[in-house]
Amino acid sequence: MSKAIKITRILIAATLFVLPVFAVQAEDDFKACVRCHGPEGNSDNPDVPSISGLSARYMEASQRAYHDGKRECGTSKMKCRMAAKWTDEEMAGSAAHFAQFKRVAPEQVFDSALAEKGKAIHEEHCASCHSAQAEADPELQPAGKLDGQWREYLEYALEQYAGGGRQQPDKMRVALETLSEDQKDELLNYYASGR
Ligand code: HEC
Ligand code: HEC
Repeated sequence: MSKAIKITRILIAATLFVLPVFAVQAEDDFKACVRCHGPEGNSDNPDVPSISGLSARYMEASQRAYHDGKRECGTSKMKCRMAAKWTDEEMAGSAAHFAQFKRVAPEQVFDSALAEKGKAIHEEHCASCHSAQAEADPELQPAGKLDGQWREYLEYALEQYAGGGRQQPDKMRVALETLSEDQKDELLNYYASGR
């Protein structure tokens, strides 16, 4: 056997041995996240957001906001207590990990006619920041995926912004202020439809 082949074999053997160890460690690191946010970040609790389908940069920014105390945890104080201890590497690592999973929209009650109207409102007022295209634009602040998110959580998030527990961009505040309560309901029906 040539020296080169021998070295290659040793390297392959070493990789086979080391990789599963890393994989197990990584899964363990995210067990706590999964307990609250569900397998692959698809939450089964309407008060806890699904974190599947979110971009890594949105998640990293969210984690940092909790970490720095700029975003309040209204539904789980435990969340903010844990976030206060996260390191930069942990926040970047968990964001990269959950960014690989697709959102599986939970079954939610919605009205199709209202959802149809909500879709048009979303496209006119929200999609410039809340879309896959906007999320990939480094010039824009990451905004997050709203479709297929729990309605209870979204209603709560809007209350957080209105009450100052969370900072929103001025343009979003203006967009939300122009909407009637009926239009907000149409939007929430659209996001609940998971389309
Ligand atoms: C004790 C339960 C709990 C644990 C553990 C937990 N989270 Fe959360 N997480 C929540 C809750 C509840 C919220 C919403 C809090 C709020 O904004 O009031 C949240 C919010 C988030 C958000 C923001 C979602 C959005 O749409 O803006 C991200 C991202 C996130 N968590 C990621 C993680 C990651 C990654 C981990 C593991 C390192 C983790 N969480 C651990 C409960 C938890
Ligand atoms: C100018 C860009 C912009 C526009 C327009 C905009 N948003 Fe946002 N939105 C953001 C950003 C940025 C965030 C994340 C802010 C933060 O860090 O909390 C956000 C966050 C949110 C969240 C919280 C998401 C989560 O997972 O916690 C909701 C809900 C939301 N927006 C609803 C809307 C709705 C509804 C509209 C349209 C009426 C809208 N936004 C228009 C930029 C925008």
